[in-house]
Amino acid sequence: MNPVPYPPRDLSSASTLGLPCMAEHFAAPASLAELQAALAEARARGWPLTLLGGGSNLILPERLSGLVIRPAMAGWWVEEGEGDRVRVHAEAGVVWHDLVMALAGQGLWGTENLALIPGHCGAAPIQNIGAYGVELSEVLEALQVVDLADGREAWMTPQACAFGYRDSVFKGRLAGRVVITRLVLNLSRRGEARLGYGDLAGRVGKDPTPLEVVEAVCAIRRDKLPDPARLANAGSFFKNPVVEAALAERLLALDPEMPHFPQPDGRVKLAAGWLIDQSGLKGLCEGHFGVHDRQALVLVHFGGGSAAELLAFAERVARRVLERFGVALEREPRLAG
Ligand code: EPU
Repeated sequence: MNPVPYPPRDLSSASTLGLPCMAEHFAAPASLAELQAALAEARARGWPLTLLGGGSNLILPERLSGLVIRPAMAGWWVEEGEGDRVRVHAEAGVVWHDLVMALAGQGLWGTENLALIPGHCGAAPIQNIGAYGVELSEVLEALQVVDLADGREAWMTPQACAFGYRDSVFKGRLAGRVVITRLVLNLSRRGEARLGYGDLAGRVGKDPTPLEVVEAVCAIRRDKLPDPARLANAGSFFKNPVVEAALAERLLALDPEMPHFPQPDGRVKLAAGWLIDQSGLKGLCEGHFGVHDRQALVLVHFGGGSAAELLAFAERVARRVLERFGVALEREPRLAG
C-alpha cells in the first residue's frame, strides 16, 4: 500500500462549539473525483468515515479515528427556468449564508428568511434548516449524493429526503451512508415576502425586496443569537418539543401566555427556549458552559470544556425542564464519531 495520504488534522476550530478534537486522517476534496478517491482510500484501509460541513450543528469528540471528510467543492451557478423560475445549483462546500446574500442581491426570492444560518450547503438538508416560517425543503428541488460504500453518484427528490421539522432521511435511514454533494434550489424572480413569523413584518417597509428581508432577519438573529465567532455555540441546542394536546392544555391552564403552535396531527409544538427560560435557567453558567442570556435555547461554550461536559450540562438543563413541565427535550446538534 502507498504511504498514508491523508494526514491528521486538529479540528478544534472546525466546529462552532469550539470543542477540542483531533482527526486521525483528514481530507477536503475539491471535486467529486477527489471525494471518490478519498472514499476508495478509506475503504481500502478499513477507516471509519466522519463527514464534516461548516461544523455549526455538530458536537465533536476529542478524537476521531479514521478519515474525516469535509467537502470543499464550492461552486454555485444559476440556471434560467420557466417564466420567473430559476434553478440554483450549489455545491456542498458553499457557505450557506454567502449564497443567501448573493441570491437576495440578485433579487431572487426563496431563501431570504434563511439568512445568517451558519454552516455549509451540504449540511443544510440534514436537519432541514428552518427559520422565520420557512424551511429549506420548501425551495429544494433536488439534491445529489455520493454513496459512501461505493462512491456512486445519485440524485434524490425532496420526497425521498423525507423532510420534517429539523429532520430528514439523512438523520435516519441514510445516516452515515451518503455524502450530500450538491443542492438544486427552485427560486423565483418574482415573489412575495413571507413575514408571518414573530416581529419580522414590523422590521421591513411595504413591498420589501429579498435583500431587505435578509437584512431584517439578520438584525433579529444578531439581537438574539450569539455570534459563534465571539461566543462558541451550535445554535438551538434543543428541538422545540411537540407534545400531546392534553399536556399542552394542562400547561396552558397554568400559564395562558405560554407560546404554543398546534400541529396538523392534533399535537402541539412548544418553545423549548421559553420552557428553559421559565425554568429559571436563562443565563445559567456552570463550569465551561452556559445557557445564553438572550435566547435560552442556545447553550454556549466559554472555552476549555469537553464534549462529555457539554452533554452532562445539557442533561441537567433538560432534567430541570422535565421536572418543572413534564416535557422531555431532545438534542438538536448531532454527535460526531
Ligand atoms: N422564548 C422565551 N425565552 C427564550 C427564548 C424564546 O421566552 O429565552 C420564547 C419567545 O419569546 C417566543 C418563543 O419562545 O415566544 C419562540 O422563540 P423564537 O421565536 O426565538 O424561536 P425559537 O422557537 O426559540 C426557532 C428555531 C431557531 C430559529 C427561530 C426563528 C428551533 C429549535 N429553533 O427558535 O433556529 O432561528 O425559531 O425561526 O426550531 C437553530 O436551529 O439553530 C435556530 C436558531
